[in-house]
Formats: sequence, structure tokens, C-alpha cells
Amino acid sequence: MRLDLATWQEVDAYLKKSDAIIIPSGSTEQHGPMGLIGTDALCAQQIAREAGDRAGVYVAPTLAYTPAPFNMSFPGTISISEPVYASLVIEILQGLVHHGFRNIYFLNGHGANLAPLKRVTAEFPEVNIRIKSWWDFEAVNVLRQDHYGDWEGMHATPSEVAITQATYRTLPPGDAELPPEKLSMEFIRDHSGDRHGPPDEHRAQFPDGRVGSHSALASAGVGQEIIDAAVAALAEDVLKPG
Ligand code: NI
Repeated sequence: MRLDLATWQEVDAYLKKSDAIIIPSGSTEQHGPMGLIGTDALCAQQIAREAGDRAGVYVAPTLAYTPAPFNMSFPGTISISEPVYASLVIEILQGLVHHGFRNIYFLNGHGANLAPLKRVTAEFPEVNIRIKSWWDFEAVNVLRQDHYGDWEGMHATPSEVAITQATYRTLPPGDAELPPEKLSMEFIRDHSGDRHGPPDEHRAQFPDGRVGSHSALASAGVGQEIIDAAVAALAEDVLKPG
């Protein structure tokens, strides 16, 4: 159920029986040699749209322009500043609240969105706002662990690449054929939520764009399994009372 494909009369009728909406948020940034620039947005969008159809809940247009400053040394990345992203989210929430939406569910696909989303949504105490990344669902985590274990890594993960393979296209591994450098526990702890350094430093440290993720382990079959698990979990979660 896409909001952008509905008429205002349909939304009006919907709001008489439901006040729920899902907003996918991703990024526009490099995802290694076999990952698409839109990976984070495309993954969140696909899962949100299928879950929205299943649950009978509207899905708003995807927030694809988000903060990804650390990837700006890779062509194709478009990063907007955190204050701009936060302002955009605030005005979108104001618009939705104005029309009567009170159950707003952010389905996230990009670590760096989490801190600004949490800050912004705290300003709407009267609204039930939830923020979840698609990899937070337990059934999804089990699949990630079973198929990829530590090779999931932090960026250009085989799971996210697999989802885009199931939905869009599969690229040959190219520079991603060999496993990437293993990340230390310390690195993972210090860089969670995409807390990476300046862009030149980041590219020098991870020249092919993968951060501890063995993207070449991805397959469309596993991607479909992950989508199915995430869609089932989200369709159930979004209907839970706030
Ligand atoms: Ni990603």
C-alpha cells in the first residue's frame, strides 16, 4: 500500500480506520564492488512495501538522502548533513501528524540514520514512533548468522547485497572476490552506527568500500529468505498497539 500511489480520498478513508504508516529510510552511498549505490534505501523500501501490503498499512516515499559523510570519497555517494536530515524528518512527521497519523514506524536500512532519528522523534511525545532496522528482527538475525556469521561485517554486507540481488540485479564479485580484512572487536565497538572517520581516511583504510563484509557470499536465494523473514516480522510488528 504505497502512499504515493493512493488518492487523497483513499487516504482520508484509511485514516478513519487506521493511523499507522511505515517510512523506509536508507542512504545513497557506495556499497563495495558488487553492491548498488541505493542498497540501504532499496532494502528498507522492498521490505516496507511488502510488509505494508500484507498488513494493510500505508508506506510513505523512501528517505534515500541521508548522512553518509564517511563515504564521500567514493563516486556516487550523496551525503546530506545531519541537521538537514533531522529537519526533513521533523517536517515529514509534522505533516503526517497534521493529517492524523499517530503510529509512525521508521524501517531503517542505514546505521548513520539511527542517532538523528532517535533525537528527532523524541520531540513528538504524543505520537507512537518506532525505529527499527530490518536486521533487528530476530528471524532475520538468525538467517544472517547462519549464512554469513562474522563475514556479515559492517558495510556492503552479504545480507544487504543478497536482498538487492533478489530484487534488482546480481553483479560479478570483481574486487570483492577475496575476503576483506577482518575487523577487530574494538573496531566494531568504536564504529557502530557508522561512526567512521573522514572520507579520505575511510577510503584509504577500506579501498574497495567493504568494511569487514564478504559481499561475494551473497546470493539471490538467501536474499529472498531474508526478505520473507523481515516482511513477516515487520507486518506483525507494525500492527502491535503502541
Ligand atoms: Ni548498507
